[in-house]
Amino acid sequence: MQVVETIPACRQALAKLRQFGGNVGFVPTMGALHRGHVSLMEACRSAADLSVASIFVNPTQFAPTEDLSRYPRPREHDLALCEAAGVDLVFYPQVDEMYPPGGETTVVVSGLSTRWEGSIRTTHFQGVTTVVTKLFNIVCPEIAFFGQKDFQQQAILRRMVRDLDQPVEIRTCATIREPDGLAMSSRNVYLTSEQREIAAQIYQGLSAAEKLWLQGERSPGTLQREIESRVSLRPELSIDYVAIVDPGTLLPLEAPHPGAVALVACKLGSTRLIDNLLLGTAAELLALPTTAR
Ligand code: PAJ
Repeated sequence: MQVVETIPACRQALAKLRQFGGNVGFVPTMGALHRGHVSLMEACRSAADLSVASIFVNPTQFAPTEDLSRYPRPREHDLALCEAAGVDLVFYPQVDEMYPPGGETTVVVSGLSTRWEGSIRTTHFQGVTTVVTKLFNIVCPEIAFFGQKDFQQQAILRRMVRDLDQPVEIRTCATIREPDGLAMSSRNVYLTSEQREIAAQIYQGLSAAEKLWLQGERSPGTLQREIESRVSLRPELSIDYVAIVDPGTLLPLEAPHPGAVALVACKLGSTRLIDNLLLGTAAELLALPTTAR
């Protein structure tokens, strides 16, 4: 596995690797890697001839009040996980490499970025879409892999790629969870052991709504209230939003259909936790086009 830190070195390494032909798969990350990230790298490895990952804690997607300075950066651990997952090339730039002084250009997906997470973290998604566009321009992948865990992020990136005709296919991979259902996240390390146990209640809420759905419940209000009441069993969890939305537009649905998404965001102490679940039977979800899963 090769590790490169500059844009020219990345382009050069890719040009060499591409000489042998084949397609490039890409997994952008901010490091502090866990099994969720590894599952993307494994999907990448089986779908593409060359696997590229990036590790870059992107400052433009953090608000000044957020955790940029304390975001974990375990370099050796991360590189070992990339290597074990069969990554061929890791792009590991520093901030100056990605954002030299004088930059004036930002990529904004206007509507989708203002909803849900975007209403709370108002500059977050423009940081994501800008850095992912830059990374796509550096790596030029045929396929890029993102997690369902960050549902709104992958919806926005799909919209961006379509709107800007970026020549890359976005694939969304299932959320990897801890045994008690908590979605794996680099930020889970901020939780105390007591909070860690409380956090699992979010998935309990989503699972309860799924159960109602499978029993035939289709009222978005009822499904939403089920999630809220289960999550509220742990008063330490302060709910930012719960919604049943269309997977493409992220707008609330009056008559949810299979493939509708239940979104949840909570605060636990100073840590924000987000999660989601697609509603539908396994057969219904498998029958959906991959862009709607
Ligand atoms: P990061 O939080 O490091 O996540 C990198 C990728 O891993 C994202 O696509 C995310 O959705 C996915 N991921 C995280 N937890 C997961 C889980 N439990 N199961 C499956 N996939 C999971 O998301 C970002 O970084 C950044 O915004 C980035 C896209 C790299 C741009 O800076």
